[in-house]
Amino acid sequence: MGLVLGTAVPQPTALAYLTPQNIAVAIIAFLLEYIIKWRFFGPLRHIPGPWWSHYTQIPDGYHLMRGERALYIHSLHERYGPTIRVGPTLVGVSGTAGVKMVYGTALKKPFTRNPQITAMFNFQRKPEADNIASFHLPGDALKRRRAYGNIFSRGNILAMQDVFKKCFENYFAKLETLRTASPNGIVPMVRCFRALALDAITEVSFGGFYKGASDPDHQMKLLDNLMSANLVQLHLGNAIYSLLKSIPWKRLDWVRSMEDFCRITSDSTALYLSNRAANPSQARKDSLSQLLSYGLPRAAVEGEALANVFAGTDTTGNSTAFIVCEVLKKPNVHRRVVEEVFNAFPEGVYRMGEVMEFRKVEEECRLLKWCIKEGMRRHSLAPGPALRVVPDDGVVVDGMFIPGKVDIFAQSHTSTHDPVAFPQPEEFIPDRWENETSEMRTLWTVFGSGPRICIGENLAMMEMQMMLALLFRNYELVQVPGTDMRITEFWLRSMKAGELHLKLVPRSV
Ligand SMILES: *[C@@H]1O[C@H](CO)[C@@H](O)[C@H](O)[C@H]1NC(C)=O
Ligand SMILES: *[C@@H]1O[C@H](CO)[C@@H](O)[C@H](O)[C@H]1NC(C)=O
Repeated sequence: MGLVLGTAVPQPTALAYLTPQNIAVAIIAFLLEYIIKWRFFGPLRHIPGPWWSHYTQIPDGYHLMRGERALYIHSLHERYGPTIRVGPTLVGVSGTAGVKMVYGTALKKPFTRNPQITAMFNFQRKPEADNIASFHLPGDALKRRRAYGNIFSRGNILAMQDVFKKCFENYFAKLETLRTASPNGIVPMVRCFRALALDAITEVSFGGFYKGASDPDHQMKLLDNLMSANLVQLHLGNAIYSLLKSIPWKRLDWVRSMEDFCRITSDSTALYLSNRAANPSQARKDSLSQLLSYGLPRAAVEGEALANVFAGTDTTGNSTAFIVCEVLKKPNVHRRVVEEVFNAFPEGVYRMGEVMEFRKVEEECRLLKWCIKEGMRRHSLAPGPALRVVPDDGVVVDGMFIPGKVDIFAQSHTSTHDPVAFPQPEEFIPDRWENETSEMRTLWTVFGSGPRICIGENLAMMEMQMMLALLFRNYELVQVPGTDMRITEFWLRSMKAGELHLKLVPRSV
């Protein structure tokens, strides 16, 4: 077909140059320039990675949205090696060298935390409320850790056993209440584990004066909402987060959950202080009193307490559920774990529901502890990238130069699935912890590593050991047919079904 040409005389305006041809040429020129710039001059052009990662991070974002980012990045490591490019300015490293570098135990000039992440952890969004998780510089985090980290030391956790005893009694009572209320003895386990974790962390952080703790289920909902709101802010940016917050629609109340959370913390701190003023003789060594005696401003004290409740509840609670799932899938391990707790707390000596002595659990239930380490290894709670920024001068990892200012990570899913340190990495083999090597120790980054390692590690380990010892000693655990035991990752891991339902049969009456 021919073209019918118009007869109008072209107008000599700038618009006249916007012909389809010219626009196409401009777009092609722009794309070419972009491609050449990033392909041949991009700071990470020499690092192996999929072809698209020279230009964009969209495929990575796609896997993030599908809740499978850590597994996807792990597959990139398997394909491209220990150091990979995941986006034009995003690099992933692995292995002991990578872990030591990124977590800052191998460098004089430390890596700072990605600013978007630190902003997210400053819950009150005020500079004076910066906490151990939200400090930009590792040195500041370390200083704060020195101020009150001893509260979470092994010694203090042992010294606080009387306080925790009450928490484990509440935990056992909750298991029993839910079990007897259900016609067939089926109990939502995640709910019980999280309630215990909340109970224990608020004892440490607020001396038990935590207002949210009176209704743990409501408090959990609040924490879930907070998590979602944080993810919106992290992935969609401040502008969209603020916009959503300002829409007065009830269905969007979850985006405003931060305000509720801050209010509860503030009220609880006030309650704690007034109680302490009224009963100075009852003062005990917990993190709030330690922070106050350190002379920190009230906002900072509350910032720390908020961060601890946020970081110390879901993590412990949900990890415990994954560990139970793995043990139940291995009948042989399950049988040995039960035998072990029975040997430590035998029939005739142990009374049903009695809270055990932690020292004894620790010393005599070694397989239980290995199951915890192995379960966390298989399902580290935050398996994906925790971004750091490379110092200005750049660094060399495993012989490869990584330029300054790019984002870097050593994701824990890859560290904990290193096939040399952990042969058959996909298998749950608790006995591998019998002979723990230094590589295993370095690569087990489920609590992070280096100066920013989770402050609550000792507390979390104690809680998990105690919760599980009580559970395995007092109940026969029966899987409910059709229960979905799959685990998903959405930045943090959780049960795909949202809960783990188990039938609990008391071992004695
Ligand atoms: C750990 O090492 C001891 C002593 O070498 C050995 O007997 C045991 O089988 C090892 N355990 C595992 C799980 O490899
Ligand atoms: C923990 O598990 C609960 C229930 O499965 C879930 O709603 C929550 O989002 C999980 N928390 C994290 C941090 O993944």
